[in-house]
Order: sequence, then structure tokens, then C-alpha cells
Amino acid sequence: MKKNITPVYYGDYLQLDKILSAQSLQSEKYGAGAHDETLFIIVHQVYELWFRQLLHELSSVIDIFSADTVKDNQLITVVHRLQRMVHIQDLMNDQISVMETMTPQDFLAFRDYLVPASGFQSIQFKQLEISLGLKREYRIDFDKQSFYKRLNDEDRAYLEDLEQKQSLFELVDKWLSRLPLLKKDEFVFWQHYQHTAEQLLEADKQIIVNNTALSDSERRGELKEWQNNWDNFHALFNKVEYEEMRSEGKFRLSHDGILAALFIKQYAEEPIFNLPFQVITTLIDMDEKLTLWRYRHAMMVQRMLGTKIGTGGSSGHQYLKKTTESNRIFLDFFNMASFLLPKDSLPPLPEAIKKYCGFYIGHTGSNTTNSQLAT
Ligand code: HEM
Repeated sequence: MKKNITPVYYGDYLQLDKILSAQSLQSEKYGAGAHDETLFIIVHQVYELWFRQLLHELSSVIDIFSADTVKDNQLITVVHRLQRMVHIQDLMNDQISVMETMTPQDFLAFRDYLVPASGFQSIQFKQLEISLGLKREYRIDFDKQSFYKRLNDEDRAYLEDLEQKQSLFELVDKWLSRLPLLKKDEFVFWQHYQHTAEQLLEADKQIIVNNTALSDSERRGELKEWQNNWDNFHALFNKVEYEEMRSEGKFRLSHDGILAALFIKQYAEEPIFNLPFQVITTLIDMDEKLTLWRYRHAMMVQRMLGTKIGTGGSSGHQYLKKTTESNRIFLDFFNMASFLLPKDSLPPLPEAIKKYCGFYIGHTGSNTTNSQLAT
């Protein structure tokens, strides 16, 4: 790195003149300034800055996964950056409480001046959702159209264009599907897996059947859930059935993708699977933190507005609460826990894969680390 030639001055470098003069109160335009509007603006601006950083990290991760092969050293970078994103999300979730120091009456002092501006128009937030994988078809019904209608032409065109690009979800799915390990000995392995998992599921069923604390209707309900779980599990071993369930929205990952992820989660302690396992785990963290943000934001909105509608015209709290349940991205990674086997019931790793792992472990220090799961 070259030394700087021209001395840099703190405020100039950070362009503080721009940032610190960007808090103009709407309430001042129309009357006496409302004290809490400054807080309202600054909290939103801070969020937008964090969104900017999140998008910076995300686009670099998307670039890595967009290549034909992803090497181990790149996976280390991916995990590092995704984890940084998760830490930022923690901060974002904590910041809600700062906003909540404003009372509903304080908010009422300037709220009407904001109409029809709304969080719906946060292009960076929508960009984050779309780039992570929340494309239009996966949103709750109201949300499929709602925010697009509230954007200016330029922003709408930008986001519609983004919808056509590959999201992180799609790229991770493709990466998982390409993993070479599934092509080795897969049939015998999955037969064994299926047999062991069926025994465990049957044992679960017996617990429900023999549970005397349950009423008849409770037992029927639990058995129905059990049956759903059984059907989902069996679909994993039948591509046609799986694709049918996928088209109904019961799964999102491709068939090869979900089997690879299941495999990785089961054998996470094998060095060869550990980095991919960290990728999956961090994506779970990220989805969870985003859901927590949605939930905390929805609670804050209820506290500020009660059941009033939002400035963007949604049902407010009700709409936001629904998005917490439905606008999920990496849900398959969560639901997969229903099919995991305890470690002592795991089928032995297929011979070909064992050899593959042995090859990898035996060659540390050489370039083979790059080839372990390069796909
Ligand atoms: C007093 C504080 C706040 C209130 C009362 C509030 C209210 C609302 C409401 C009612 C909506 C639904 C859309 C609408 O009808 O307008 C919404 C959406 C949204 N708000 Fe807030 N909000 C507040 C603070 C914040 C803050 C601090 C952020 C940080 C950036 C934020 C970001 C968003 C985003 C991104 C959406 C779109 C969410 C989605 O479509 O899933 N809001 N907000």
C-alpha cells in the first residue's frame, strides 16, 4: 500500500458535512419542530447505512458463488463475510429499542407529515430481501404488489431488474447440487439412511399413540403432524414426489440441493464438510435474525400505531406480523432438523467418500485443500 501524499482531514474523509446536514424536519416546514423527529430520521439513516454495508458484503458473496467453481479459501471468505452480516443484524435488532423511546404521542406530533412515505420505499431493504432470495413469488399475497406500486418508476425498474438476477438462495442451491460427493455410492447410502430414519419416526409415532395425557383430538392432531413429517421425509427419496411438493411450496431447495445439505449437516464434523456446514449455519442465523427484526419492527409498530394503518397504506401491524411468518428464505435449512439422525445412528460414510476425505486429509498443506469440495 502506498503512503498517502495529501493529508486527510477526519471530517472531509467521512464527508460529515453531508451526513450531519441531512436531518431536515418535516415538522419544521409546517410549524413548530417536533423534538422526536430528529431521532426518527437519524435512526432510519443509521439503518440505511447498515443496509449499505450488508449489501456490500452480500454482493461480494454473490460474486463468489456466481463462478463455476468455489474454492475453499473462497468459502472461508464467504463464511467470514456472512458472519459479519449476522453481527450487523444483531446491532440492527437492538436499535429498535432506541426508536421505542419515542412515545406514540411524540410520533403523532409529526406522523401525518410523512404520508405517503413508508418503509415500503426502502430500496436497500427490498434489494437485500430480493438478493437474499425473497423474490416476488415467495412473498405473502399483499406484498407481491404492494410495495412496487408505491415506488417511483426508476426504483421500480431497478428492483424488477434485480428480480431477474440470481439470488444468494439460488446460487447456494446450485452450489450444493454440484457437490461431487453425492455422485459416489449414493444409492446404498440413502437406502441405509432412509431405513434408520423410518425406525426413528416410527418410534416417535408410538410415543404419540401411547401418550395417555393426550385427548383424542390432540392425538389426532399430533398424528396428522407426524404424517406430514413422514410424507415430507419420503419425498426426499422420490424426486417426482419431491418436485410436486416443491411446486406446492413445501420445499424450496432443489432435490439435489436438499440432499447435499442434509448430508453436510449430518457429517459436519468431517473436516471436508465443515466449511459448507458453516455456510449453511450462517444462512440459518441470517434468516433467523431477519425474522427477529421483522418481529421487533412489527411489535414497535403495534406499540406506536395500535391497529391503525401504515403511512404506506398497509394494515400496519397485521401486515408486518404476517411477513414474519411467511417471508422466509432459508426455511428448508431449518425444517431439515426433522430428518436428522442422532450421531450414533448414522450410516457409515460410503467407501468412495471416505477415500475422498482421506485423500483430502492426507494432503493438507498442498493445493488439494482447494479441491476438497471445489464445485
Ligand atoms: C415509529 C417507528 C416506525 C413505524 C410506526 C413504522 C411503521 C411501518 C409500517 C406501518 C410499515 C408497513 C408499510 C406501511 O403501510 O407503511 C412499515 C414498513 C417498513 N418499515 Fe417501518 N416503521 C417505523 C420505523 C422503522 C425503522 C426505524 C425502520 C428502519 C429502516 C423501518 C423500516 C421499514 C421497512 C424496511 C419496511 C418494509 C417492510 C416490509 O415490507 O416487509 N421502519 N413500517
